[in-house]
Amino acid sequence: LQNMTEAELYSLYKGVYVPTHLHPPESLRYCEEFTFRPDDILITTYPKSGTTWMQEVVPLIVSEGDLTPVLTVPNWDRVPWLEEHRAILLNLEQRASPRVFATHFHHHMMNESYFKIKPRVLYLMRNPKDVFTSSYYYYGMASYLVKPGTQDEFMEKFLDGKIMFGSWFDHVKGWINAEERESILYIFYEEMIADLKGSVEKIAKFLGKSLSPDVTEKIAEHCVFKNMKQNIMSNFSLVPEEYMDQKKSEFLRKGIAGDWKNLFTEAQEQRFDAVYKEKMKDVTFKFMWD
Ligand code: A3P
Repeated sequence: LQNMTEAELYSLYKGVYVPTHLHPPESLRYCEEFTFRPDDILITTYPKSGTTWMQEVVPLIVSEGDLTPVLTVPNWDRVPWLEEHRAILLNLEQRASPRVFATHFHHHMMNESYFKIKPRVLYLMRNPKDVFTSSYYYYGMASYLVKPGTQDEFMEKFLDGKIMFGSWFDHVKGWINAEERESILYIFYEEMIADLKGSVEKIAKFLGKSLSPDVTEKIAEHCVFKNMKQNIMSNFSLVPEEYMDQKKSEFLRKGIAGDWKNLFTEAQEQRFDAVYKEKMKDVTFKFMWD
């Protein structure tokens, strides 16, 4: 992977770049033909928005606080990405309901079964400046991605959507404008940072689960950054170093809101704000970071 070119590392699927190594054609075909159930739960995110965090929180809500699934099954098998190569191997058709999946797909990339069945979606969003920051470090350590280059270079690619899973702006606009909004819970990384217990309650309510205050507390406690970081089933330490070099940057890196302030120059902040303003000018949705 180290010596591969951009053309070898990424392929275009429904107009969006996907990392070929993780999403070979047979996986994309599997995903296209996948049949949803109405009680499926889909964690949907643009990469680096807190997917792994949700892969911890949601199974614990489903298990009503039993830690077994999160302590014994790696996050990528516990809540598999439907578009990832591993999904084919996991016999998802036989899994008991409610099945929990993850996807980085844009709304328009979802398959026919999704639009027919309308499973439940948790759409997690994060301040794009922090998504950029988290991505910048991640692209520097993950060998299946094109190297980020300088911060300025990576910013232009990010703003232009020339990275894995394309444009953050298109991703968010597609999902907030979805017609099936009543089956989607919109949630912010920043609200989970501000009030994890409240977020657990909110997600549980959407999923039709009533948890006791003790169980809610237990889940939130297990899922705070410093605790979750210790879970080898969720901190990606099981991934070989040649694939993700966590000596360069850890996967569970800082886990805070506003880290962009430590990275952006004033010029970069202005550049980012100007593009954000232009691309989001018709959006009325209220984001937590605005
Ligand atoms: P940072 O790089 O800013 O630390 P994803 O799982 O979508 O790839 O997102 C990864 C980001 O979510 C990383 O952000 C990671 O640290 C953060 N994250 C994961 N678990 C978290 C937790 N329990 N609390 C806060 N942030 C978490």
